[in-house]
Amino acid sequence: MKIINLGSKEEACHYVANELLKQIISNKKSVLGLATGGTMVRVYEQLVNLIRINEIDLSEITTFNLDEYIGIDYDHPESYYTYMHDVLFNHLPTWNEEKIHLPNGSAENLQEEIKRYEDLLDKEGPVDVQILGIGENGHIGFNEPGTSFDSLTSVVGLTQSTIEANSRYFETKEEVPEQAISMGIHSILKAKRIILLAYGPKKADAIRKLLTGEITTDLPASALYNHPNVEVILDNNAYLSEKEEI
Ligand code: F6R
Repeated sequence: MKIINLGSKEEACHYVANELLKQIISNKKSVLGLATGGTMVRVYEQLVNLIRINEIDLSEITTFNLDEYIGIDYDHPESYYTYMHDVLFNHLPTWNEEKIHLPNGSAENLQEEIKRYEDLLDKEGPVDVQILGIGENGHIGFNEPGTSFDSLTSVVGLTQSTIEANSRYFETKEEVPEQAISMGIHSILKAKRIILLAYGPKKADAIRKLLTGEITTDLPASALYNHPNVEVILDNNAYLSEKEEI
Protein backbone atom coordinates (compact mmCIF):
# COMPACT_ATOMS: atom_id res chain seq x y z
CA MET A 1 0.00 0.00 0.00
CA LYS A 2 1.38 3.39 -0.99
CA ILE A 3 0.46 6.32 1.27
CA ILE A 4 0.65 9.67 -0.50
CA ASN A 5 -0.07 12.93 1.34
CA LEU A 6 -0.63 15.60 -1.29
CA GLY A 7 -1.21 18.38 1.24
CA SER A 8 -4.46 19.92 0.05
CA LYS A 9 -7.90 18.64 -0.90
CA GLU A 10 -7.53 20.23 -4.33
CA GLU A 11 -4.25 18.43 -5.09
CA ALA A 12 -5.57 15.14 -3.75
CA CYS A 13 -8.73 15.35 -5.87
CA HIS A 14 -6.71 16.37 -8.91
CA TYR A 15 -4.46 13.33 -8.53
CA VAL A 16 -7.46 10.97 -8.52
CA ALA A 17 -9.20 12.73 -11.44
CA ASN A 18 -5.99 12.65 -13.44
CA GLU A 19 -5.41 8.93 -12.77
CA LEU A 20 -8.93 8.22 -14.03
CA LEU A 21 -8.23 10.32 -17.12
CA LYS A 22 -4.96 8.48 -17.75
CA GLN A 23 -6.76 5.14 -17.46
CA ILE A 24 -9.43 6.25 -19.94
CA ILE A 25 -6.80 7.51 -22.39
CA SER A 26 -4.74 4.33 -22.09
CA ASN A 27 -7.75 2.12 -22.92
CA LYS A 28 -10.96 3.51 -24.40
CA LYS A 29 -12.73 0.34 -23.21
CA SER A 30 -11.68 0.78 -19.57
CA VAL A 31 -13.83 -0.41 -16.71
CA LEU A 32 -13.99 2.15 -13.90
CA GLY A 33 -15.14 1.49 -10.35
CA LEU A 34 -16.82 4.63 -9.04
CA ALA A 35 -17.81 5.89 -5.61
CA THR A 36 -20.22 8.58 -4.40
CA GLY A 37 -20.20 10.75 -1.28
CA GLY A 38 -18.94 14.25 -0.55
CA THR A 39 -15.32 13.25 -1.10
CA MET A 40 -15.82 12.50 -4.79
CA VAL A 41 -17.72 15.64 -5.81
CA ARG A 42 -14.54 17.64 -6.48
CA VAL A 43 -12.90 14.64 -8.20
CA TYR A 44 -15.77 14.41 -10.67
CA GLU A 45 -15.80 18.21 -11.25
CA GLN A 46 -12.12 18.03 -12.13
CA LEU A 47 -12.60 14.89 -14.25
CA VAL A 48 -15.36 16.60 -16.26
CA ASN A 49 -12.97 19.50 -17.00
CA LEU A 50 -10.11 17.21 -17.96
CA ILE A 51 -12.29 15.13 -20.28
CA ARG A 52 -13.69 18.28 -21.92
CA ILE A 53 -10.24 19.81 -22.43
CA ASN A 54 -8.89 16.59 -23.92
CA GLU A 55 -12.07 15.93 -25.96
CA ILE A 56 -12.24 12.31 -24.82
CA ASP A 57 -14.89 9.94 -26.15
CA LEU A 58 -16.44 7.89 -23.33
CA SER A 59 -18.81 5.76 -25.37
CA GLU A 60 -16.93 2.50 -24.75
CA ILE A 61 -16.15 3.10 -21.08
CA THR A 62 -17.93 0.86 -18.58
CA THR A 63 -18.59 2.05 -15.03
CA PHE A 64 -19.66 0.21 -11.90
CA ASN A 65 -20.76 2.09 -8.80
CA LEU A 66 -20.09 0.67 -5.39
CA ASP A 67 -23.49 1.03 -3.84
CA GLU A 68 -27.05 2.32 -3.80
CA TYR A 69 -29.60 2.93 -1.05
CA ILE A 70 -32.55 0.60 -0.57
CA GLY A 71 -35.94 2.17 0.12
CA ILE A 72 -35.73 5.25 -2.10
CA ASP A 73 -36.41 5.27 -5.84
CA TYR A 74 -33.55 5.66 -8.30
CA ASP A 75 -34.77 9.17 -9.21
CA HIS A 76 -34.95 10.34 -5.55
CA PRO A 77 -32.75 13.46 -5.16
CA GLU A 78 -30.43 11.62 -2.73
CA SER A 79 -30.14 8.32 -4.58
CA TYR A 80 -26.66 7.51 -5.84
CA TYR A 81 -28.13 7.16 -9.34
CA THR A 82 -29.17 10.84 -9.13
CA TYR A 83 -25.84 11.85 -7.57
CA MET A 84 -23.81 10.22 -10.35
CA HIS A 85 -25.92 11.82 -13.07
CA ASP A 86 -25.89 15.25 -11.40
CA VAL A 87 -22.18 15.28 -10.66
CA LEU A 88 -20.67 13.33 -13.55
CA PHE A 89 -22.73 11.61 -16.22
CA ASN A 90 -25.02 14.50 -17.28
CA HIS A 91 -22.05 16.83 -17.80
CA LEU A 92 -20.50 14.84 -20.64
CA PRO A 93 -22.50 13.80 -23.69
CA THR A 94 -20.57 10.70 -24.73
CA TRP A 95 -21.23 8.35 -21.81
CA ASN A 96 -23.12 5.26 -22.94
CA GLU A 97 -26.01 4.74 -20.44
CA GLU A 98 -25.96 1.01 -21.22
CA LYS A 99 -22.43 0.78 -19.89
CA ILE A 100 -23.17 2.71 -16.67
CA HIS A 101 -24.01 0.34 -13.84
CA LEU A 102 -25.34 0.94 -10.35
CA PRO A 103 -27.07 -1.58 -8.12
CA ASN A 104 -30.84 -1.12 -8.22
CA GLY A 105 -31.96 -0.49 -4.64
CA SER A 106 -35.62 -0.49 -5.65
CA ALA A 107 -35.53 -3.90 -7.35
CA GLU A 108 -38.51 -6.04 -6.41
CA ASN A 109 -36.31 -9.04 -5.74
CA LEU A 110 -33.18 -7.85 -3.95
CA GLN A 111 -31.59 -11.32 -3.86
CA GLU A 112 -31.86 -11.54 -7.65
CA GLU A 113 -30.50 -8.01 -7.95
CA ILE A 114 -27.35 -8.66 -5.91
CA LYS A 115 -26.65 -11.77 -7.95
CA ARG A 116 -27.25 -9.87 -11.20
CA TYR A 117 -24.78 -7.17 -10.12
CA GLU A 118 -22.02 -9.53 -9.00
CA ASP A 119 -22.45 -11.62 -12.19
CA LEU A 120 -22.24 -8.46 -14.31
CA LEU A 121 -19.06 -7.40 -12.50
CA ASP A 122 -17.55 -10.78 -13.27
CA LYS A 123 -18.66 -10.64 -16.90
CA GLU A 124 -17.59 -7.05 -17.67
CA GLY A 125 -14.73 -6.87 -15.17
CA PRO A 126 -12.24 -6.81 -13.76
CA VAL A 127 -12.41 -3.14 -12.88
CA ASP A 128 -9.23 -1.38 -14.07
CA VAL A 129 -9.26 1.39 -11.47
CA GLN A 130 -11.55 1.41 -8.44
CA ILE A 131 -11.82 4.68 -6.52
CA LEU A 132 -12.89 4.58 -2.90
CA GLY A 133 -13.78 7.01 -0.13
CA ILE A 134 -13.65 5.90 3.48
CA GLY A 135 -16.32 6.18 6.18
CA GLU A 136 -15.50 7.79 9.52
CA ASN A 137 -15.81 4.25 10.90
CA GLY A 138 -13.45 2.85 8.28
CA HIS A 139 -16.08 1.43 5.93
CA ILE A 140 -15.44 1.03 2.21
CA GLY A 141 -18.48 0.88 -0.02
CA PHE A 142 -21.16 0.31 2.61
CA ASN A 143 -19.22 -2.55 4.15
CA GLU A 144 -19.48 -1.62 7.80
CA PRO A 145 -17.15 -2.79 10.60
CA GLY A 146 -17.48 -6.53 11.16
CA THR A 147 -18.09 -7.36 7.48
CA SER A 148 -16.24 -10.46 6.30
CA PHE A 149 -13.41 -9.79 3.87
CA ASP A 150 -14.93 -12.58 1.69
CA SER A 151 -18.16 -10.65 1.18
CA LEU A 152 -19.69 -10.28 -2.28
CA THR A 153 -22.36 -7.80 -3.38
CA SER A 154 -25.11 -7.95 -0.77
CA VAL A 155 -27.85 -6.17 1.10
CA VAL A 156 -26.24 -4.38 4.03
CA GLY A 157 -27.49 -2.51 7.08
CA LEU A 158 -26.02 0.94 7.72
CA THR A 159 -24.62 1.67 11.18
CA GLN A 160 -25.79 4.64 13.26
CA SER A 161 -22.44 6.34 12.53
CA THR A 162 -23.03 6.11 8.77
CA ILE A 163 -26.67 7.19 9.11
CA GLU A 164 -25.51 10.23 11.16
CA ALA A 165 -22.80 11.08 8.62
CA ASN A 166 -25.18 10.80 5.65
CA SER A 167 -28.06 12.64 7.35
CA ARG A 168 -26.49 15.93 6.19
CA TYR A 169 -27.99 15.21 2.77
CA PHE A 170 -31.52 14.49 4.01
CA GLU A 171 -33.99 16.83 5.72
CA THR A 172 -34.23 14.62 8.79
CA LYS A 173 -32.16 11.72 10.10
CA GLU A 174 -35.28 9.54 9.93
CA GLU A 175 -35.28 9.87 6.14
CA VAL A 176 -31.83 8.32 5.71
CA PRO A 177 -32.28 4.77 4.39
CA GLU A 178 -31.11 2.11 6.83
CA GLN A 179 -30.12 -0.41 4.16
CA ALA A 180 -28.21 -0.40 0.91
CA ILE A 181 -26.90 -2.74 -1.75
CA SER A 182 -23.11 -2.66 -1.67
CA MET A 183 -20.37 -4.39 -3.57
CA GLY A 184 -18.67 -6.64 -1.04
CA ILE A 185 -15.09 -6.36 0.16
CA HIS A 186 -14.09 -9.35 -1.96
CA SER A 187 -15.84 -7.81 -4.99
CA ILE A 188 -13.92 -4.55 -4.47
CA LEU A 189 -10.58 -6.35 -4.14
CA LYS A 190 -11.06 -7.94 -7.59
CA ALA A 191 -10.13 -4.56 -9.16
CA LYS A 192 -6.69 -4.36 -10.76
CA ARG A 193 -5.86 -1.09 -9.04
CA ILE A 194 -7.47 0.72 -6.11
CA ILE A 195 -7.17 4.40 -5.14
CA LEU A 196 -8.61 5.41 -1.77
CA LEU A 197 -9.09 9.14 -1.25
CA ALA A 198 -9.54 10.80 2.15
CA TYR A 199 -9.30 14.42 3.13
CA GLY A 200 -10.47 16.60 6.00
CA PRO A 201 -10.19 16.16 9.78
CA LYS A 202 -13.23 13.86 10.04
CA LYS A 203 -11.29 11.12 8.27
CA ALA A 204 -8.13 11.46 10.39
CA ASP A 205 -9.14 8.85 12.94
CA ALA A 206 -10.00 6.17 10.35
CA ILE A 207 -6.76 6.94 8.50
CA ARG A 208 -4.70 6.79 11.70
CA LYS A 209 -6.16 3.32 12.38
CA LEU A 210 -5.52 2.24 8.79
CA LEU A 211 -1.91 3.37 8.93
CA THR A 212 -1.20 1.24 12.02
CA GLY A 213 -1.11 -1.63 9.52
CA GLU A 214 -3.37 -3.88 11.59
CA ILE A 215 -5.64 -5.98 9.37
CA THR A 216 -8.96 -6.40 11.10
CA THR A 217 -12.64 -6.65 10.15
CA ASP A 218 -13.20 -3.86 12.74
CA LEU A 219 -11.71 -1.55 10.10
CA PRO A 220 -13.02 -2.70 6.68
CA ALA A 221 -10.49 -0.49 4.82
CA SER A 222 -7.67 -2.58 6.30
CA ALA A 223 -8.70 -5.35 3.85
CA LEU A 224 -6.89 -3.23 1.27
CA TYR A 225 -3.59 -4.50 2.69
CA ASN A 226 -4.52 -7.82 1.02
CA HIS A 227 -4.40 -6.18 -2.42
CA PRO A 228 -1.12 -5.66 -4.32
CA ASN A 229 -1.90 -2.31 -5.97
CA VAL A 230 -3.43 0.23 -3.59
CA GLU A 231 -2.74 3.93 -3.16
CA VAL A 232 -4.12 5.99 -0.28
CA ILE A 233 -4.29 9.65 -1.27
CA LEU A 234 -4.53 12.13 1.63
CA ASP A 235 -4.46 15.80 2.51
CA ASN A 236 -2.75 17.25 5.57
CA ASN A 237 -5.94 17.13 7.63
CA ALA A 238 -6.63 13.43 7.10
CA TYR A 239 -2.98 12.63 7.73
CA LEU A 240 -2.62 14.98 10.70
CA SER A 241 -3.31 12.67 13.61
CA GLU A 242 -0.74 10.16 12.32
CA LYS A 243 1.90 12.87 12.01
CA GLU A 244 1.14 14.15 15.52
CA GLU A 245 1.86 10.75 16.99
CA ILE A 246 5.20 10.39 15.26
C1 F6R B 1 -19.91 5.89 -1.45
C2 F6R B 1 -19.32 4.93 -0.53
C3 F6R B 1 -18.88 5.29 0.83
C4 F6R B 1 -18.25 6.69 0.93
C5 F6R B 1 -17.90 7.01 2.38
C6 F6R B 1 -17.34 8.40 2.51
O1 F6R B 1 -20.22 5.28 -2.68
O2 F6R B 1 -19.19 3.83 -0.91
O3 F6R B 1 -17.97 4.34 1.30
O4 F6R B 1 -17.10 6.72 0.14
O5 F6R B 1 -19.03 6.88 3.18
O6 F6R B 1 -18.37 9.32 2.26
P1 F6R B 1 -18.05 10.87 2.16
O7 F6R B 1 -17.21 11.05 0.98
O8 F6R B 1 -19.41 11.51 1.99
O9 F6R B 1 -17.38 11.25 3.42
